[in-house]
Amino acid sequence: MQKSEAKKRIEELRKLIAYHDYLYYVKDAPEISDAEYDQLFKELKDLEEAYPEFITPDSPTQRVSGIPLTEFRTLPHSVPMLSLDNAFEEAEVYAFEEKIKRMLKSDITGGYVVEPKIDGIAIELVYENGRFIAGITRGDGIIGEDVTQNVKTIKSVPIMLLVDNPPKKIEVRGEVFLSKEAFKKINEQQDELGKPPFANPRNAAAGSLRQLDPKITASRPLDIFCYAVANPKELNVTSQWELLQYLKKLGFKVNPLIKLVDSLKEVIEYHKEMSENRESLPYEIDGIVIKVNDFKIQEALGETARSPRWALAYKFEPRQAITKVIDIVVNVGRTGTLTPTAVFEPVNISGVTVSRATLHNQDEIDRLDVRIGDYVVVERAGDVIPAVVKVLKEKRETELKPFKIPDKCPVCGSKAVKYEGEVAIRCTGIDCPAQLKERLIHFCSKNAMDIEGFGEKICEQLIDKKIVKSIEDIFTITKSDLMKLERMGPKLADNLINAREMAKKRELYRFIYGLGIRYVGEVTAKKLVNHLGTLEKIKDASYEELISIPEIGPVVAKSIKVFFNEPRNLKTIENILKAGLKFSEKKTREGFFTGKKVLFTGTLKAMTRNEAKKIIEDQGGIVKSTVTKDLDYLIVGDEPGSKLEEAKKLSITILNEEEFLNKINQKKELKGPLL
Ligand code: IVH
Repeated sequence: MQKSEAKKRIEELRKLIAYHDYLYYVKDAPEISDAEYDQLFKELKDLEEAYPEFITPDSPTQRVSGIPLTEFRTLPHSVPMLSLDNAFEEAEVYAFEEKIKRMLKSDITGGYVVEPKIDGIAIELVYENGRFIAGITRGDGIIGEDVTQNVKTIKSVPIMLLVDNPPKKIEVRGEVFLSKEAFKKINEQQDELGKPPFANPRNAAAGSLRQLDPKITASRPLDIFCYAVANPKELNVTSQWELLQYLKKLGFKVNPLIKLVDSLKEVIEYHKEMSENRESLPYEIDGIVIKVNDFKIQEALGETARSPRWALAYKFEPRQAITKVIDIVVNVGRTGTLTPTAVFEPVNISGVTVSRATLHNQDEIDRLDVRIGDYVVVERAGDVIPAVVKVLKEKRETELKPFKIPDKCPVCGSKAVKYEGEVAIRCTGIDCPAQLKERLIHFCSKNAMDIEGFGEKICEQLIDKKIVKSIEDIFTITKSDLMKLERMGPKLADNLINAREMAKKRELYRFIYGLGIRYVGEVTAKKLVNHLGTLEKIKDASYEELISIPEIGPVVAKSIKVFFNEPRNLKTIENILKAGLKFSEKKTREGFFTGKKVLFTGTLKAMTRNEAKKIIEDQGGIVKSTVTKDLDYLIVGDEPGSKLEEAKKLSITILNEEEFLNKINQKKELKGPLL
């Protein structure tokens, strides 16, 4: 393809992809299959790789781009981003209209626009000549933070406007939010990473938008609803309703529940309807926003320093109540996290009886200073687990004891520890019934003991039916035990038993990895075996011995020590061995790539990428997916991608396929000509 042709096709593809993004993320009505979309995206990516000079920041391939920042710069808003006055009662809404009428000395013509009040983060999107150029948080209303890199990762934010004559400049305002479902998932991830959970979707959205690394923001499915512009006068629209229709036309996502109404009576009805619907919406709303529709009237009314006189937030009844904490209980989650829960005198919060609220972790208990016997304000937020908002310390009648999460697991009695840099306190017991399912699934998984067929469903049933009560039971269960499971036939049961027998001779590193010791992944497990040789030695290794192994740091070493210091874990290991486990002698080979970080680009001739990856990993090397400063080698196959240029810039050692094969000492026959 000629350069000029490539340029043309690149532009065409960008428009096409932007259009399909719009259909999928804004209109929720895709016209092509995911596979067709991926095909377009790949074509664009390939062309841009071949002609990097044509890459522009508004390409859909550049949604996630830019390096992590150390801080956000600030940017001013061309027109201040105001706040809204709040009303909680009908009377205040009537007073709002009365005041307007008094000021206008006439009735309001053109009606009101009513919109759901999204509980998210206000943002301004700046477009010049139809291209997205900046995303700015509200900040203090005058100056906000430049979160452009992050906003660009939000798929429902158009990177280019799909109209023939876009305005020269437009600053669109809206609310960035996370769905209730995304919020739940993010909190699960936070727990797995040992990080504190977010209290509500709003905080999770704020935390996601203010990530310095745009890759993290991109992994969170942020969304947006747009509802205003900085300077509507510059556009050919005369009312809020027209503006919202215009924003839709430009490709912005506007809430489908917006409504144009004539009277306050309808406003009140809308408020009631929304308050009844709020639980069933996939995102959080905390009220409605009432806006005088006609821009001429808006202009006549003007604004105070804080908020416009033509708009009002009519909030829903707060879902809060006061009650007394009668106990704090500690539960153990499936990943071993000890989670404290406040139990209180049952209280009715807008129609739902609430008697428990999560306190998340010790940090949260300390921050609130909540103690058994305290009176607290409890809030219920949609699907979100109720939360203690604050403690009414002035209501403490007697001295109350500060609450500390115990250092023993309340379920199994094993030691519970807080790993460095984490907020959660975790149980370290391998057989802890609370975690048994997760641990068993992990133990049997492909990269661990690789017991084929023992996936999630079978493991779950084995535990639910109490056939497996501890990891070691997996090695003693019989065919007739398996026949008690649902949808089990004699043939499948035979296969499972055979698979289990085969797993008795796996390599030691798989067993170590399968134990599920925190921070001990496959690579670390291999290193332990390479350096220490036997299970006995790994079990007994001192902290000093462990940290002397390259790339095993203090946090990992401590975690290994904690695990093998737990008598219950030693007993379980002994029992597993008694069940007839023999580790195969095959150690991972010490090789050229041991402890080295490696990245591949392009196609290898002698083997697949996965085969090459396995060889590196078998030597205890690490295969990375992006170019970073600490990379040791870039291995280059046919038709390498942009990684080659990036690596050259960072002066990373580059190996071609032949050099790579020499290093791994495994010169296979090459199918094509050498590089
Ligand atoms: S209009 C000058 N419309 O609520 C008027 N705001 O409490 C600007 N919000 O700062 C706001 N949904 O972050 C408007 N449909 C909506 C909204 C909305 C949520 C937020 C916005 C604003 C805050 C005021």
